[in-house]
Amino acid sequence: MIDDVAKLVAEARSAFASAANLKELDLLRVKHLGKNSLVKRLKGELRKLPSEAIPAHARLLNDAENEIQLYFDVTRAVVAETDLDARLVAERMDVSLPPRPFAPGTAAEGGIHPIARTMEELTTLFGAMGFKVAEGPDIESDWHNFGALNIPLHHPARQDHDTFYVPAVDGRRPVLRTHTSPVQIRTMLNEAPPIRVIVPGRTYRADHDATHSPMFHQVEGLVIDRNIHLGHLKGCLIDFLRAFFGIADLPVRFRASYFPFTEPSMEVDIGWSRKTGELGQGGDWLEILGSGMVHPKVLANCGIDPREWQGFAFGMGIERITMLKHGIPDLRPFYEADIRWLRHYGADPLSPPSLVEGV
Ligand code: PHE
Repeated sequence: MIDDVAKLVAEARSAFASAANLKELDLLRVKHLGKNSLVKRLKGELRKLPSEAIPAHARLLNDAENEIQLYFDVTRAVVAETDLDARLVAERMDVSLPPRPFAPGTAAEGGIHPIARTMEELTTLFGAMGFKVAEGPDIESDWHNFGALNIPLHHPARQDHDTFYVPAVDGRRPVLRTHTSPVQIRTMLNEAPPIRVIVPGRTYRADHDATHSPMFHQVEGLVIDRNIHLGHLKGCLIDFLRAFFGIADLPVRFRASYFPFTEPSMEVDIGWSRKTGELGQGGDWLEILGSGMVHPKVLANCGIDPREWQGFAFGMGIERITMLKHGIPDLRPFYEADIRWLRHYGADPLSPPSLVEGV
């Protein structure tokens, strides 16, 4: 018996030593220490021995099992290290190599799409003003897209939006969101004020010509806090527009307007020259975005007490501000994936926007 047990230990030990990797070693553990291993089986047979012989044999087998376990543990530590060494060698990469932006097949063959770059810039600029990014679904309920925003069933704004309707589910007709404003509702329902979010995202309207696409992008802004007033809205948007277009004295005009979900509502124009297309001078005005103080009914629809909280919201077209900033004359190539267009108007993927550069 003593010899048999010693052999058992020696066998397990040399088996472990022969394992080439952790997977093999694990299989050997099952064989030599698992439920059906020889030691376990011998232990199971102890009760067949005369009772005075049992304690000595039991001790023998326990010691053997402990020894096998010990060999296993030690071997496992060594094999794990070897495995890691092998991976470190195989997966080595030289992080000190310079990037190769113009090598064929790398991103710089084209560039970051202007829409994506504008979204990065929006996130950077508004991020510096304390805004977080919020998102919502492209397929919206009628209530989020219209009702909660104080646009009742037969309101003309619904027709203005040229809505794409989706086949009804449970008697309700979802829509492809016609603006990013439903994410105002989702944010106010999910978060307690104070709130400061921007919402860059896709929007849809049944509209198609040189300056309209059925799918386009907007960015929404929402600020809810105590004692927020029109001055905050104006300051925030003037700062944003001047930083985004990189023109420190860009003329900005606020013009009374109407949206069902803001009161008062304002359209925002920037100064430009109609003749040359140049921004910042020329005496003409160009409409750039819609804004206003969040309507008390909208706050109440989201369970926010309008006597305690106020806020402002704004929304603008991302294609539009991108075309103006970069002098891009036509909307259609934005969605045509033409590598020559991307090479021309795309941004360098290796230089993300930074406030130091004035964005
Ligand atoms: N949702 C409006 C639109 O699509 C823009 C807007 C957003 C206006 C927020 C006011 C406040 O035209």
